Amino acid sequence: MQRPQPSYEHCLITGASSGIGAAFARALAPRAGVLTLVARREERLNSLARLLESKSQVRCEVIALDLVKESGVSDLLVEMQKRSLPSVHLLVNNAGYGRVGRFGDFPFNDYREMFELNMRVAAELLYRLLDDLQEGPGRGVINVASAAGFQPIPYFAPYAATKAFLRSLSAGVAEELRSSGTRSLSFCPGPVETEFAKVASLESGFAKPGARAEEVVQIALGAYEKGRLEVVPGLINRLLAWSTRFAPLSLVLKVSAFVLKREIGGPSGTGPAIH
Ligand SMILES: NC(=O)c1ccc[n+]([C@@H]2O[C@H](COP(=O)([O-])OP(=O)(O)OC[C@H]3O[C@@H](n4cnc5c(N)ncnc54)[C@H](OP(=O)(O)O)[C@@H]3O)[C@@H](O)[C@H]2O)c1
Repeated sequence: MQRPQPSYEHCLITGASSGIGAAFARALAPRAGVLTLVARREERLNSLARLLESKSQVRCEVIALDLVKESGVSDLLVEMQKRSLPSVHLLVNNAGYGRVGRFGDFPFNDYREMFELNMRVAAELLYRLLDDLQEGPGRGVINVASAAGFQPIPYFAPYAATKAFLRSLSAGVAEELRSSGTRSLSFCPGPVETEFAKVASLESGFAKPGARAEEVVQIALGAYEKGRLEVVPGLINRLLAWSTRFAPLSLVLKVSAFVLKREIGGPSGTGPAIH
């Protein structure tokens, strides 16, 4: 079946206040009718919305809330309904974060919130928007997973596990949606220089030099338009992701541990937060 051209009439982007989410907003603004921008930092979202509206015909809706809250997704959908927004054509499931360190270095509540945001919120949004996404031709979801989702990563283990979950969910659902023409792309970047990384003063080499958010977002949108299931920007990242299929797990773990261990500083062995 020939897949219909993607439609961007109403794009909903989570985590749009910085980094990759903001880059999606900038890239989609010239193509979209309405952009709904979601994150906690309202002022950031408002300035982005003002900028985009001044540069293109797009209408931006800012909804500032904490998606991790149990009612976060419901509150978002109710607010969208209150504002009589059109049904969603593209969902960009982007909000997420990780923690570098030994499993156990952080209070469990930190991990719980990460699991909530990276997995439950992404899955719940997709679930609750399934009808919207199948309502018309050319609709779909971009799930922002990570190259970290291709293998278990010591010292980054809970984060890598959340991204493996999202990759798997995205691809499984893609096949279920195929007959309706709805796209589901798992987007798996390696290190990207985001605003958060700068604010968090990540000094060590792991995330630097990272790719630019604009570049990887262009790659994601290109893959989405082609109806691909998954995309890993960058040859090295693709080779690393591919190699984990064939290398013995013990070797994969040793190499990842070697790279990540450098991120763990301080007497407690606790590293910085990293997205
Ligand atoms: N940067 C990388 O190297 C990299 C690589 C692979 C994958 N990724 C993935 O890319 C996605 C975007 O990350 P990024 O690199 O662009 O980092 P970022 O600049 O820190 O962006 C994270 C976004 O998530 C939002 N967010 C965090 N907690 C939230 C909450 N409780 N409720 C609502 N929004 C929340 C943040 O907004 P507020 O703080 O305003 O709420 C922010 O807009 C994440 O899923 C990350 O795992 C990043």
